[in-house]
Amino acid sequence: MKIAFLTIATNKYIDMAKALYESMCTYAFPDNSVEVDFLCFTNLPHEFDTLSGRINCKPIYLTHVPFPLISLLRYQYYSSIETILKNYDYVYHIDCDMLLKDSIGGEIVENRVCVIHPGFSFQGIDVNTLPYDRNQKSKAYVPLNEGKYYYQNCFQGGLSCEFVNMCKTLRNDIEENLRENYIALWHDESYMNRYMINNTPTLILPPTYAQPESWKSLGPTKILHVDKNHKEVRMAI
Ligand code: GAL
Repeated sequence: MKIAFLTIATNKYIDMAKALYESMCTYAFPDNSVEVDFLCFTNLPHEFDTLSGRINCKPIYLTHVPFPLISLLRYQYYSSIETILKNYDYVYHIDCDMLLKDSIGGEIVENRVCVIHPGFSFQGIDVNTLPYDRNQKSKAYVPLNEGKYYYQNCFQGGLSCEFVNMCKTLRNDIEENLRENYIALWHDESYMNRYMINNTPTLILPPTYAQPESWKSLGPTKILHVDKNHKEVRMAI
């Protein structure tokens, strides 16, 4: 079995992507039951030249664009390598500012996999308080009383063909809204959440797969979402 982890890291984010790669070499399918590739879209591909580890690292050239476009356009980027993605059994997106803190393996492998957003993970939450995009002109629009869970888009994936199909749909939704100068409330995350209402995830991972660094622990952390130094981020974008 072959699995690809996709990330996007331009400018200063490259250091975070390198740290993510190192953590994946330690914790991603450590039993070597699976061949894992790390595909990083970056404008600094040579930064990976000196890295070596258990996991194959494959940089893909990407011209930098400022946030939020760099995140919003991920489905355009990922669709552009559709033929490569189809060589994998499973494909996951992971934000470059994340670090694996514990082993991940077979428990994440399913057709459509999402992580519950740590901010909206408590039981019995009123769906009308979830931060879906409520603007009717949005292709990510979710009317009141629709939806059930809200997912964090920092880690998401599944079966390769499912992931590729999702990327195509979301790329079209995002392009259509961009043509009307509209970007959904939480960018790519809003579009992904709309998609998952129509295409229910087959596996919902707990928020410990997206634990914000400075938040109260939600349980034993699997994947840490590293706090950004906002001064650094502004320099990067
Ligand atoms: C924040 C997170 C954003 C977005 C938002 C949704 O905690 O930083 O990326 O997910 O929650 O309300």
